Amino acid sequence: MNKTDAIGIFDSGIGGLTVGHQIAKLMPNEQIIYFGDTKHLPYGDKSKDAIIHYSKNITKFLLNQNCKMVVIACNTASALAFGAVKDLCKQKAIAVNVIDPVIDFTCTSKAHSVGIIGTKNTILSDVYASKIHALSSEVKTRSLATPLLVPMIEEGFYQNKISNTILSNYLEKEELQNIDHLILGCTHYPLIEDEIKQYYKGTVEIVNSAKIVSKYIEKKLSDSDLLNESPSQPQHEFHVSDFTDSFEQSAQHFFGERINLKETRLK
Ligand code: DGL
Repeated sequence: MNKTDAIGIFDSGIGGLTVGHQIAKLMPNEQIIYFGDTKHLPYGDKSKDAIIHYSKNITKFLLNQNCKMVVIACNTASALAFGAVKDLCKQKAIAVNVIDPVIDFTCTSKAHSVGIIGTKNTILSDVYASKIHALSSEVKTRSLATPLLVPMIEEGFYQNKISNTILSNYLEKEELQNIDHLILGCTHYPLIEDEIKQYYKGTVEIVNSAKIVSKYIEKKLSDSDLLNESPSQPQHEFHVSDFTDSFEQSAQHFFGERINLKETRLK
């Protein structure tokens, strides 16, 4: 592994761009190679075997590009496939999931009652609740699967009447009452963070994994002497398994006008 090697990032679609964007802001010298598995989107309701299969294929691709780190910028794949990705990375790259840094952050903040929203797979895996309870038995958790949010965001529906109605319908449910923190347990959700904040009007602390994970990554690279500190203007690469306009628009929105987007078919 070398300091100048790229950071590999993957998600089912545009959600991981929220993590990629924060990484690029915090570590401007790092090159990013991003893979959006748009062909298999959404991951939220696929079987565990399928998610492991897709995650392994993408990890192999990123390792072939000599990535020094593989970031699973997807909660669903982090919940179901982290072990498999870690095994593949072994000595070749550092494997990072988006869940553990958020758990550490939440347990060291003043949280008493934590709401978690995510895909069906993430919520059913119970990963957030069980890890939070293992670290801190006093923190209460309340979880709700919010499966309409990923397709809604992928279709570009945010900050409008439709997204507002869907979001309020979820947030007013019994499962999410009396919380002081809300974990955005899906990397797509930072794209609707403003709407979620508008709904709560400052009464609930919103935990945005994109920011927390990028800080965690900076520390991890620095501790491993792999942080690229030499000034550079990295050419990021964006790969999708199936070309979609919405992906290109979102990537351009986050990374500026000229993005290098390729359709890359994996087995
Ligand atoms: N961004 C993914 C996550 O964090 C979305 C999953 C999906 O494709 O349903 O879980």
